[in-house]
Amino acid sequence: MSARNLFLSPLFILILNSTSAQEIGNLRLGKTNLHLFLDGYGRPNYEVSFNGKAVIEASHLGMVLAEDENLDKNFEVIGTRKNSFDQNWQPVWGEVKNIRNHYEELTVRLRQKQSGNLLNIIFRVFEDGVGFRYEFPLQPGLKYFVVKDEVTQFHMGGDHKTFWIPADYDTNEYPYTTSRLSEVDNTELVKKSTDIAVRVAPDPNGVQTPLMMKTNDGLYINIHEAALVNYPAMQLHVDRNNFILTSTLVPDPVGSKAFLHAPALTPWRTIIVSDNAADILASKMILNLNEPTTLKNTSWIKPTKFVGVWWEMQTEKATWSYSDFPDSTDAHGNLIPNHRHGANTQNVKRYIDFAAKNNIGAVLVEGWNTGWEDWFGKWKEDVFDFVTPYPDFDIKEISSYAKSKGVKMIMHNETSGSATNYERQMDTAFRLMNKFGYTSVKTGYVGKIIPRGEYHDGQWMVRHYERAAKKALQYHVMIDMHEPVRPTGLQRTYPNWLACEAARGNEYNAFSEFGNKPEHETILPFTRLMGGPMDYTPGIFKLRGYSKVAGRQVQTTLAKQLALYVTLYSPIQMAADLPENYEGHMDAFQFIKDVPVDWDDTKILEAEPGDYLTIARKEKGKGNWFLGAITDENSRKTKISLGFLDRGKKYRARIYADGDNADLHNNPESYKITERTVSSIDELDLNLVAGGGAAVSFMEIK
Ligand code: NOJ
Ligand code: CA
Repeated sequence: MSARNLFLSPLFILILNSTSAQEIGNLRLGKTNLHLFLDGYGRPNYEVSFNGKAVIEASHLGMVLAEDENLDKNFEVIGTRKNSFDQNWQPVWGEVKNIRNHYEELTVRLRQKQSGNLLNIIFRVFEDGVGFRYEFPLQPGLKYFVVKDEVTQFHMGGDHKTFWIPADYDTNEYPYTTSRLSEVDNTELVKKSTDIAVRVAPDPNGVQTPLMMKTNDGLYINIHEAALVNYPAMQLHVDRNNFILTSTLVPDPVGSKAFLHAPALTPWRTIIVSDNAADILASKMILNLNEPTTLKNTSWIKPTKFVGVWWEMQTEKATWSYSDFPDSTDAHGNLIPNHRHGANTQNVKRYIDFAAKNNIGAVLVEGWNTGWEDWFGKWKEDVFDFVTPYPDFDIKEISSYAKSKGVKMIMHNETSGSATNYERQMDTAFRLMNKFGYTSVKTGYVGKIIPRGEYHDGQWMVRHYERAAKKALQYHVMIDMHEPVRPTGLQRTYPNWLACEAARGNEYNAFSEFGNKPEHETILPFTRLMGGPMDYTPGIFKLRGYSKVAGRQVQTTLAKQLALYVTLYSPIQMAADLPENYEGHMDAFQFIKDVPVDWDDTKILEAEPGDYLTIARKEKGKGNWFLGAITDENSRKTKISLGFLDRGKKYRARIYADGDNADLHNNPESYKITERTVSSIDELDLNLVAGGGAAVSFMEIK
């Protein structure tokens, strides 16, 4: 290049405009290394490596503000602060009894040269990844402000295999697509989707988190966020040529992202990494980045299994509404009983009896309150009042019957997306729960958020979900939210916030055209469940012939439905099928009776996202172990070492396996149960058919 050409080249102009890069520092724990620097434009950059392999290549950090000076360049470092932390804590409930929170922290204090505005970035390096968040300190130049965009980048540096769902502001209820980053295009998926929510997915190359990736050289990388409070959810735009993911925040109706008031903190951005897929599932980083609960008395918080007046509505045997299908008379005046309202006192008592007899702690009843005539697709604000039962639902009688049988009732508050209406009625609703002894509530946000035009995953709704969790806490009620933003570990702060749906649950096998593919449950733990428990509603035994639509079936075997109680962790776990569908298979139902919902220990024995998963867990406060193994559309033989069992103890193992003639399409309900006495030196051969699974209980022999 001639001298003249050099002076005119973009490189030279870049050099002229910028000063040289400035080191900020390195932070390391175990195999995880974080490197920080300011580039020539004074932009904060970070890089992450694991065991010497690049995880995140140099990526920008910063904020674009609506009216104030953007906080994305021209920074100088005015100070750094280091901190080491290593402590154990005990969750109120969970997958393990003790959690180690071990990290190295670096706070970088930045000052923008032209505006004088301050921005801190707090980094934590764990053995299994990196978390960082922005902090807007108290300062004269920046008080109330609007975040227009967050420019956090994740430069992946390779065309990784990825498990993704479209970036949709309103729902996560999509099947996962497995593709390379360069192939992410959600246009067709969004069009084809049969979900009931209104979908808004403006970015054809946008995906949601938790995003799971696998590199060509065998690294597993998961990107998500922790402690999503007072801020919109982060989605990711995929630059398909350069493999750079950039955060896109879910907007409000006028396109703003977050209204903040300094001092303010954003949620943590999380990068979990390992060369072993099992470590991703064992990671406690997201929980560790959340605030501990300040609750003193947690004795009222009790994980539970439940049955419910639910699947009969999902499969259209019964209705939520009282007045759909009213009784009529024929030409001769004879009564034609069309009425099939599920939530009637007699039917509810049938579920209570079933629960009481079978070690199931609670009963959920949907469609008990007025409003269901109008709830769906009408976008009306005041559909539900959450306190007025239909005439055939005797709330007093039902509550005292449940109490006499030692069964708890789960309230159902569907808001039909009308969150403002729910906020106005919340105290009244929770008072009713207290009055009639309901210890938990399942809430729901089906449809468009009205009347404000907010999105399910925007800042306003994120604040609403937290308000609902706090309100429930105030009334000592446990909460399970359907159609909320996906979780980010807030169950540590609010241990009464047991679970969320926020993904495509088992219910899609009832009402959607394609249901859930056999691989679905092997992907969920690596994606949606990274943020917290899911109310997936497993336990369907009648896997075919439950729907009026010919050919519709649940795409698993019966044994796999059992295994899901172990592989999909939740402290509130439904046995979703109808009592009459369980009655013929009480030997298999024994596993659901026995399996706990709270654990002292968890061992991820085998894992590969999209393919298979085997997990063993130890019952809280007891000596028993439970194992679940699942596979995708491929059959699988595996030999499991029982080395996880407590040494020197003997166990009665009851193995619930796919039957010899089980077949996903022709014979999914075939299972066989065998028993053996085992100890930690034994091995177990498992034989899973395509779409199959195995569940094992190991009862300690005393
Ligand atoms: C969708 C929820 O996921 C489902 O569980 C519930 O039955 C319906 N909404 C009605 O609230
Ligand atoms: Ca749902």
